[in-house]
Amino acid sequence: MTAHNESRFDFSDSVVLVTGGGSGIGLATADAFAKAGATVIITGRNQDKLDRALAQLPENRATGVRTDIGDPADVERLVSTVIDRYGRLDVVVSNAAGYVSGEITDVSTADWEALRQTNIDGFFHLAKATLPLLAQTGGSFTATSSVSGLAGDWKGAVYDATKGAVSLFVRALALDWGPRGVRVNAVAPSLTRTGPVAGVTGNAELAAKFEERVALGRLGEPEDVALVFLFLASDAARYVTGVILPVDGGTSASNGQARV
Ligand SMILES: NC(=O)c1ccc[n+]([C@@H]2O[C@H](COP(=O)([O-])OP(=O)(O)OC[C@H]3O[C@@H](n4cnc5c(N)ncnc54)[C@H](O)[C@@H]3O)[C@@H](O)[C@H]2O)c1
Repeated sequence: MTAHNESRFDFSDSVVLVTGGGSGIGLATADAFAKAGATVIITGRNQDKLDRALAQLPENRATGVRTDIGDPADVERLVSTVIDRYGRLDVVVSNAAGYVSGEITDVSTADWEALRQTNIDGFFHLAKATLPLLAQTGGSFTATSSVSGLAGDWKGAVYDATKGAVSLFVRALALDWGPRGVRVNAVAPSLTRTGPVAGVTGNAELAAKFEERVALGRLGEPEDVALVFLFLASDAARYVTGVILPVDGGTSASNGQARV
């Protein structure tokens, strides 16, 4: 069976906000929602990058709003712009994040603070500003966590801590907002072919080490994750909230012991 995202879901009445939509998983997700008929707003810090992304998206379906997700004033401005332009918000994809690897003793305090500001504070600002709007439309909020937000990576403590925060934000927010009709979920991808991890995915030896732990035998593609965002935002997932859904080819099905 092949994946045809545009034919499976209909988001033609929906206004969808995708943070970090200028590249990677966010861009693939914006594209999938746009092909399913949604009005899509992508955000990122760099206008040129947003413009390049918009040129790849279906015509007249997407716009960009320059936003640093770690800056509460920027997030307020983003949300007001969306409401001024479209009058409603149906789906939020909280996806923007940075990445830092290395042992804790190798990570500077400045790098930790910058990562925390985007990955944790950014989630906080976005959820706080958008959940009340989603309550007006019976909408859904879905975040990009990670398999690294479910269990640890070697030399990944700092990044993993931020994704762990996203996972528990999602579970707890699902409780508070479920009674108000808002579903809150996350996807948890394993290694997926995007820019920040190109040093791993583009290195045959390293990529093979990751692949051997994936039951489905290949690394993830951004489109694999995008389809799950569509599912979680769709009516097909109307009774699903508070889940951190692995999109990892079976990686997290393993208890971590060696493959023999
Ligand atoms: N690629 C993987 O292997 C993988 C695995 C699991 C989870 N993830 C998660 O997937 C999401 C998307 O990452 P990606 O792999 O597509 O990489 P990416 O770098 O292509 O996407 C992240 C996007 O967020 C934007 N961004 C970063 N900081 C920002 C800020 N302060 N304000 C606004 N935008 C900001 C970046 O410009 C970029 O466009 C992230 O949450 C990442 O943690 C990635």
